[in-house]
Amino acid sequence: MVTTHSRSNATVLSHIIDVLADPIDGSPLRGVDDFTRLVSESGHSYDVARQGYVTLAGGAGLRYSGDDAEMISARETFLTGGHFAPFVEAIADAVHDVLDAGEVADDAHPVICEIGAGTGYYLSHTLDSVAGARGIGIDVSVHAAKHLARCHPRVGAVVADAWARLPIQSESVDAITVIFAPRNAAEFARILKPKGQVIVLTADAGHLAELREPLGIIDVEEGKVERMIEQAAGHLQPVGDSEPVEFEMMLDQQSIASQIGMSPSARHLKPEALAARIQALPEQMKVTARARITRLGRIS
Ligand SMILES: C[S@@+](CC[C@H](N)C(=O)[O-])C[C@H]1O[C@@H](n2cnc3c(N)ncnc32)[C@H](O)[C@@H]1O
Repeated sequence: MVTTHSRSNATVLSHIIDVLADPIDGSPLRGVDDFTRLVSESGHSYDVARQGYVTLAGGAGLRYSGDDAEMISARETFLTGGHFAPFVEAIADAVHDVLDAGEVADDAHPVICEIGAGTGYYLSHTLDSVAGARGIGIDVSVHAAKHLARCHPRVGAVVADAWARLPIQSESVDAITVIFAPRNAAEFARILKPKGQVIVLTADAGHLAELREPLGIIDVEEGKVERMIEQAAGHLQPVGDSEPVEFEMMLDQQSIASQIGMSPSARHLKPEALAARIQALPEQMKVTARARITRLGRIS
């Protein structure tokens, strides 16, 4: 179970300021007025929100809004139930492997950046398991960023678009984690240190299979990992084979409602119809979680 930490909002971003960059021109940022604003060398200024996150978007602003408040709240409810704990453990283990492979010293304060970090559940757990590591949680959703900003004392929360230039210095990140979230291979290759790696968790065909037919939600398509590797070609290459992570969960109707509420399926089903279908399920049922974990490194 991940603990929620409290801290002063003003200094939230100070741990990672050396890694952040102006989204417009990539120049370094510094905190001013007790870290209530970040100002770049080129003079652009970005206000730190009262809740402790900063929006780092280029001149055109953000093109997406990401998960809405209801989806984030459903995600928080489901994840704090601990149902995805084996995914969390697999990610934390992979981060340790990547830091070992990169020969990162114990006292190096490595930088771990999660893209599409949601509520920060995975990132905060990972930071708990890597002493002294610093986290950057990036999400385009301000609702997610509010959670991210308070998920761990070593996490800085940044609202930014994964498909745009990331507001991060080149060659500054030891490990990038991407859990059911967008992947921008070119930018990942740019921000990774030479020995850094990306860790991607992708849902696999058969994920939540027992719920698909009764609830009318579509299955994960086959070959997702292979397509991801193809799309990354020229920027990143696989490190070893991708590995399955599969386990069974016992879910009650409320947990199932939260699981569906945090997923894109929530947008495609009418709430009344979904509620009726969930009520028709057994009170408790066994549901399979199935994903693959893939590591990608820079092309040397
Ligand atoms: C399926 S959720 C996964 C959240 C988190 N990784 C987890 O597993 O709990 C996808 C997340 O990606 C975010 N997202 C979607 N599009 C994005 C984009 N273009 N840039 C950054 N984040 C994005 C959403 O707001 C959402 O929080």
